[in-house]
Amino acid sequence: MPQPTSSPRELALSGLPDAELIISAPGRVNLLGEHVDYNMGVVLPAAIDKRLWLAVKPIEEPVLQVTSLDLNEQVNIALKDVVTRVDEKGNPLPQWSLYPAAVAWVMLSKGYSIQGMQAVIASDLPMRAGLSSSAAIEVAFALAFQTIGGIEMNRMQLAQLCQLAENRYIGVQCGLMDQFAVSHGVARHALFFDTRSLEWQPIPLPADTVLVIADSGRTRELAHSAYNQRQQECQLAVQYIHRKNSNVHSLRDVTKQELAGFLDLLPEVVARRTHHVVDEIDRVERSALALVEDDAAAFGAFMLEGHASLRDLYDVSCDELDYLVEAASNHIGCLGARLTGAGFGGCTINLVQKQHAQDFCEKLQTAYQERFLVELKTYICHADRGAFVERMRKAVL
Ligand code: GLA
Repeated sequence: MPQPTSSPRELALSGLPDAELIISAPGRVNLLGEHVDYNMGVVLPAAIDKRLWLAVKPIEEPVLQVTSLDLNEQVNIALKDVVTRVDEKGNPLPQWSLYPAAVAWVMLSKGYSIQGMQAVIASDLPMRAGLSSSAAIEVAFALAFQTIGGIEMNRMQLAQLCQLAENRYIGVQCGLMDQFAVSHGVARHALFFDTRSLEWQPIPLPADTVLVIADSGRTRELAHSAYNQRQQECQLAVQYIHRKNSNVHSLRDVTKQELAGFLDLLPEVVARRTHHVVDEIDRVERSALALVEDDAAAFGAFMLEGHASLRDLYDVSCDELDYLVEAASNHIGCLGARLTGAGFGGCTINLVQKQHAQDFCEKLQTAYQERFLVELKTYICHADRGAFVERMRKAVL
């Protein structure tokens, strides 16, 4: 009889049998509202049932002993050395371990007292695919430090802390969407999140649909990509527009009606970025209404519009993603398709009728393989709960 394969939860626990905590953090997809969170806009992500698991045991020494079972790597980081980004032997930290280090660094620099731990990570969340595996690691470690240290902090503050870790330590000027979605996910719901007021509301996803993720396999290095450049172009737009209207402090303050009056003030590229952001914020608001009204077809049409805008105005798509969206939208079971996350490679997200999901994946895989001669990985997912902590044992140091 074939042995059932171990779940990532079991794997993490088998790597640290005397763990005191097990923490789980999901990946996320964004259904609409791309590149608007750093413009104070509204977004519509969902946490997914592809998750990272962290088995944790506090220790006396002020050292993070972190093992990634997925990568088969282990690193020891003295808390005093997080600022210099070296391991206990003085070697530069491997990329994946920068995320726990970033969270430790930000918590120490905010004056929180944190302690050493052994931690073992296992996950079924694809890494570097634009599904927020980095936010999942950050949130999981922040929860570990918080739980062990008995630190009082609500979920939004925790998400903001992780965003700060990403901005200041990793050097990506991201908004709050990923860390928010990972820490606040609700099963079967999209999260309508206002990144300016921090208000949010779960909205049920259409019945009898699934979220299909298609991983183009084209890798993207967020930190080294044009992401920060897009963020700066938006800042520049605000500076230009602010000279004409001093009430504008972010692109969120520009309405769709006012947009035309401002576009002429801007350099061509900056105008296209602005156009996308203002349209996209408006699109999220309208698409959230479509979801509330359970109008899956209208919602799917907004997804396709969003992709076109990312492709034509924001220049963050690529041939592979455009092809995937085009091919997906021709399938009978597909309600909507678009790139998800920052773009520049990574994944598309597809809203697909449940009964067609398997066929959808197979057809997309075949078409992609023929066109690009590379394997397409697809994942049939559901919106899932956000990060949580289980205590395995009573005593915490
Ligand atoms: C990345 C960032 C997010 C967001 C998206 C684009 O995922 O981490 O903050 O800006 O890109 O919408």
